[in-house]
Amino acid sequence: MSSLSRKLRFGIIGGGGIASAHARGYRALEDAEIAAVADVIPGKAEAFIQKEGLQGAAAFDDHRKLLELDLDGVSICTPNMAHYQTTVDALRAGKPVLLEKPMSVTLEEAVDMVQTAKNTGTMLSIGFQPRYDPNMKIVNDIVQSGQLGKVYFVETGGGRRRGMPGGTFIRKELAGAGAMADIGCYSLDMALNALGYPKPLTVSAYTSNYFGTNPKYHREAERFDVEDFGVAMIRLEGDIVLNYKISWAMHMDTLGSTMFLGTDAGLKINPAGSGPWSGVWDGRVGSVTLFHDVMGHHTESKIPLHDHQIHLFNEKVRDFVDAVRHNRPAPIPGEQILINQAIIDGVLRSAELKREVDIELPEL
Ligand SMILES: NC(=O)c1ccc[n+]([C@@H]2O[C@H](COP(=O)([O-])OP(=O)(O)OC[C@H]3O[C@@H](n4cnc5c(N)ncnc54)[C@H](O)[C@@H]3O)[C@@H](O)[C@H]2O)c1
Repeated sequence: MSSLSRKLRFGIIGGGGIASAHARGYRALEDAEIAAVADVIPGKAEAFIQKEGLQGAAAFDDHRKLLELDLDGVSICTPNMAHYQTTVDALRAGKPVLLEKPMSVTLEEAVDMVQTAKNTGTMLSIGFQPRYDPNMKIVNDIVQSGQLGKVYFVETGGGRRRGMPGGTFIRKELAGAGAMADIGCYSLDMALNALGYPKPLTVSAYTSNYFGTNPKYHREAERFDVEDFGVAMIRLEGDIVLNYKISWAMHMDTLGSTMFLGTDAGLKINPAGSGPWSGVWDGRVGSVTLFHDVMGHHTESKIPLHDHQIHLFNEKVRDFVDAVRHNRPAPIPGEQILINQAIIDGVLRSAELKREVDIELPEL
């Protein structure tokens, strides 16, 4: 039976928190099913299958066993440090990959993942569900229409006041980085995608973790060794400068809006915050305001958005499944997100060296 008529079969690697959102996404589709789940913790894949009502799906504690099955693609939902090996193994097994963010732990890994996708001719798509927010399209349309004129400065980031995760997110050996990668990758994607993903040239960054390492603020303080705050100035090709800042915790309500300054107009984007934090680009845009004419008057278009995280997530899975079915390119290609990863890599290097660093992207 051709892939156009039969039900497509997918696997999930990593059966933790976010895997449930992927399972919900696949369940919402009539033309797809979850045929297998793998998790390194013995019994966890089976428990996930039970919990998510995926009876009939095969359970494994080694992703390589799952990859031996006849599958049309996989969702990779492991902690960051396991993204590289599972992705490369899946691509080598010819399975299209929908990989959770952030893409990888290092730039080197991201480069190798993209190279493997190219060499094997297999799709690698990164799961940034905020891309499916209709307001993101408005932002892209405004920036790409040229109505801002020449964009010379962009400021983006997110500021949680009290929003530090724990577990696998706070240990460098498992997560690779902290807030700058975990939530920062979304802010970077919003700004860079609107700009057409220009290449980064240099990064000068500062990071700290005064909150995560303080037992007053974090119950796993003694294990916390990633950054909970970071700020960076990034030079992009095309004479654009990007100011990028993120916090998981701070004594402030917000780090401000995202803004694009252009020679003809400016664009301000307020995030739709919720919970004991605000200002995080976690998939919901609050309002988009276009300032034209530097002489004074401005036009506002406020688009309130209710909580539609589930919808965005389902859209990301649907788009991946559609791309597999119709043999289309990756919806959010690894090659593009490599640039996002290069900036995060540059931030970590610069913060450690306490000086500006160059970003070198290999030709792929
Ligand atoms: N897109 C989003 O909105 C979103 C939200 C939360 C987390 N995430 C991302 O999803 C990933 C997972 O986050 P989570 O909160 O589900 O973490 P989690 O710790 O709840 O789950 C990860 C699971 O992967 C398993 N695992 C680890 N190594 C494995 C391997 N080699 N093979 C198979 N299974 C393995 C773990 O045992 C665990 O069950 C992270 O990269 C995170 O950044 C994305």
